[in-house]
Amino acid sequence: MNKIPFSQPLIDEDVIAEVLDSLVNTGWLTSGPKVQALEAALLAYTGAQAIVCVNSWTSGAMLALKWFGVGPGDEVIVPAYTYAATALCALNIGARVVMVDVLGDFTLDPEQLERAITPRTKAIIPVDLGGWPADYDRIRHILEDDPVRSRFSPATLVQEKLGRPLILADAAHSIGARYRGRKSGVCADVTVLSFHSVKNITTGEGGAVCLQLPPSFDPEAEYRFMKLYSLNGQSKSTYEKNIPGDWRYDIVEQGLKVNMPDLSAAVGLAQIRKYDRQLLPERFELFRQYQEQLGASDRMVLPLLQNGEGTVSSAHLFLLRIDGMTESGRDAIIADMACEGIGLNVHYIPLPMMTLFRNLGFRMEDYPNTLRLYMNEITLPLYNGLPPESVCVVCDKLLQYTR
Ligand SMILES: Cc1ncc(COP(=O)(O)O)c(C=O)c1O
Repeated sequence: MNKIPFSQPLIDEDVIAEVLDSLVNTGWLTSGPKVQALEAALLAYTGAQAIVCVNSWTSGAMLALKWFGVGPGDEVIVPAYTYAATALCALNIGARVVMVDVLGDFTLDPEQLERAITPRTKAIIPVDLGGWPADYDRIRHILEDDPVRSRFSPATLVQEKLGRPLILADAAHSIGARYRGRKSGVCADVTVLSFHSVKNITTGEGGAVCLQLPPSFDPEAEYRFMKLYSLNGQSKSTYEKNIPGDWRYDIVEQGLKVNMPDLSAAVGLAQIRKYDRQLLPERFELFRQYQEQLGASDRMVLPLLQNGEGTVSSAHLFLLRIDGMTESGRDAIIADMACEGIGLNVHYIPLPMMTLFRNLGFRMEDYPNTLRLYMNEITLPLYNGLPPESVCVVCDKLLQYTR
């Protein structure tokens, strides 16, 4: 057992009670009343127009891209600094991935984005890395500008209604974050959340697709389509068919099978109820402690918790960088601290370093900022239930390497 594990999912009395309620009182295991309740809780929390719960971020992003009619021949722009799923969701539906570099805050560089857009660009996936939102206003401004709009050639009715490439936010890390005062979930056309075990809110595996579409759309109709598409394109779910005599259904689309089970939803429901009241403030407190203690060394490049413009992180990851540290020096610190039972991590190995993406022709030298950030990055333990004394232990050890 690690002395200070890197990450731990929250399984407390409230989670156990909610799962028990699901098992004992509802009679449902697949998508049913708990999924319905989680969708309602997420709607109230984010303020999005509509939300569909799914079984992962990856499947939610594929669902959103399919809904927008993205496929072979289309291009999807992603940052080079992210987890592989940001790009895999596009590859999995036959689209081509275009990568761009990031800014010093780890988010997609809007200038690079502008240069990467072609008439084949159908979607952009900015990533809120570590919980810090990408610059959505600048990205939207670029996409709504005339040169991009006039070069966009819609291939489906949905694309025609939007009239430009889709902004699909990778908010796998950022539930609870705010971009210029706006909650994660309403900053892009479509925002996909992840509820994977290590995330701020978890359902074991899971995700949610949040819609915030322009007035040319009827969000309720798009919700119904996505819900149906998430369940084999079936006109009625098992939950909806559970009325005696109402057995007939149709398959109206070649959909996916990516719906969230009720047992998973129960876990997330117990957490979202106390997210703002307890779980998020606890994360903020740990984040501030790291900032305060590591600030003792001017070699520590610290992530922001908030700025003066209403942008606030969800404090998902503490992405520390050590100025002047080499990649091998960084790796040695991680190995050294592992010997003392302290779990550290690196977020992320850039996509162009991975075999799959190298084989697709991506080259690390084309993304110098990504490489620069990655080389001396270390991610610190940060989760609900992490004792403040553990933060002190981690900081003391880290500070020794910078003396
Ligand atoms: C930035 C980012 N995007 C996407 C994903 C994929 O999420 P999921 O595992 O729910 O498919 C992750 C998961 O770790 C992630 O960190």
